[in-house]
Amino acid sequence: MDSLALATHNLTKRFDHFVAVDDVSFSIRRGEIFGLLGPNGAGKTTTIRMLLGLLAPTSGGGTVLGYDIVTQAEAIRARVGYVSQKFSLYPDLTVVENFDFYAGVYGVPRDQVSTRRATILPSVGLTGQENTRVASLAGGARQRLALACALAHEPEFLFLDEPTAGVDPISRRMLWDLIYERAARGVSILVTTHYMDEAENCHRLAFIHRGKIVAIGSPSELKTEAMPAQVIEIDCEPSDVALTALRAARLFDEVALYGTLIHALGADARAKISRAREILHAHNVAVNSIEVIVPSLEEVFIARLRRADTTDDR
Ligand SMILES: Nc1ncnc2c1ncn2[C@@H]1O[C@H](COP(=O)(O)OP(=O)(O)OP(=O)(O)O)[C@@H](O)[C@H]1O
Ligand SMILES: [Mg+2]
Repeated sequence: MDSLALATHNLTKRFDHFVAVDDVSFSIRRGEIFGLLGPNGAGKTTTIRMLLGLLAPTSGGGTVLGYDIVTQAEAIRARVGYVSQKFSLYPDLTVVENFDFYAGVYGVPRDQVSTRRATILPSVGLTGQENTRVASLAGGARQRLALACALAHEPEFLFLDEPTAGVDPISRRMLWDLIYERAARGVSILVTTHYMDEAENCHRLAFIHRGKIVAIGSPSELKTEAMPAQVIEIDCEPSDVALTALRAARLFDEVALYGTLIHALGADARAKISRAREILHAHNVAVNSIEVIVPSLEEVFIARLRRADTTDDR
C-alpha cells in the first residue's frame, strides 16, 4: 500500500481577491504526526477544510488516503476523524449522548457503539463523567470528548485543528498521549497548534504564513537547515544593561532576554562575538560566557516569518 497518507499539489484558495492558501504542496506519511504552525489567519483551517472536501480549492488539489479531495470527499470523510477548531459538541447533551451521536454520524454499527464507547471514553479520562452534560464540562474535558468523538469510527487519519487551545496541562498531556498512541498504531495525524513544545512533538512540521509554506521539515532539520540566522547566547551581569547596550549598538537583528540569559540573533552572529564582548566591556558588564547555540523552534519560526515578510513577492 502507498506509504503516503496525504499529498497536496499547489493547493490554493482565493476568497475574492484574497489568497488564503497559496500554492501549498506537502505530503504526510502513514503513521506520521505532521504539524501545521502559523500565526492567526495563516490559512491552517482553510487548508484542512479543503483536505476534507468541506471547501473547494480554487486551484491545485490533493489526495487523502489515496482519495481525491475534490471528487472523492465522501470516501475521505468516512475514513478520517476531525476535531474542528470551532466547538462542535452539543452542550445540552451528555458525554455519552454526544459520543453516540457522532458514532452514528460516522456510521459505526449500532451494536458496536457501546463497546467502542467503553474503550474510548476511559482512554480520554472521562470515566465517571458519562452522564454529565457537556455544558457543565471544563474546557479540557470537552476537548478530550471532542477527540473521543473523532475516534469513534477508528479513523485512519486524524485532523486536529488546535485541539489543545486553552486546555489545561493535564488534559494536554492526555490528548498528546493519545495522539502518540494512535500514530504508533499507524494512524496519520495532521495537527495545528500555536504551542512550540507541541511542535517539537511532531515528526515533521510546516510553517505557514499568509497562506504560503515558508519552511518544512523535522524539528531538528528546521533548527539547522531552515534557520536563516545564527543565535548566540550570552551569560552576563547585569543583563539589563547588556540588553540595552547591545540593542543600541544595532549589531544583531534581534536581542532578547531568555530568563537571565541574552539571545542575540543575526545572519553572521558568530563573527560578531568579539565586537559584542567589546561593547559589553565598555558598559562594565561582566561576561561569563558567549557561545553559538542551537536555536529554539520558536526562534526559527519567528526568523522565518520575518524573512518571508521582508522578501515577500506579492
Ligand atoms: N469563508 C471565508 N471568506 C473570506 N475569507 C475567509 C473565509 N475563511 C477564511 N477566510 C480568511 O482566510 C484567512 C485564513 O483563515 P484561516 O481560518 O484558514 O486561518 P488560520 O491559520 O486557521 O488562523 P487561526 O490560527 O486564527 O485559526 C484569514 O484571513 C481569514 O479571514
Ligand atoms: Mg484556524
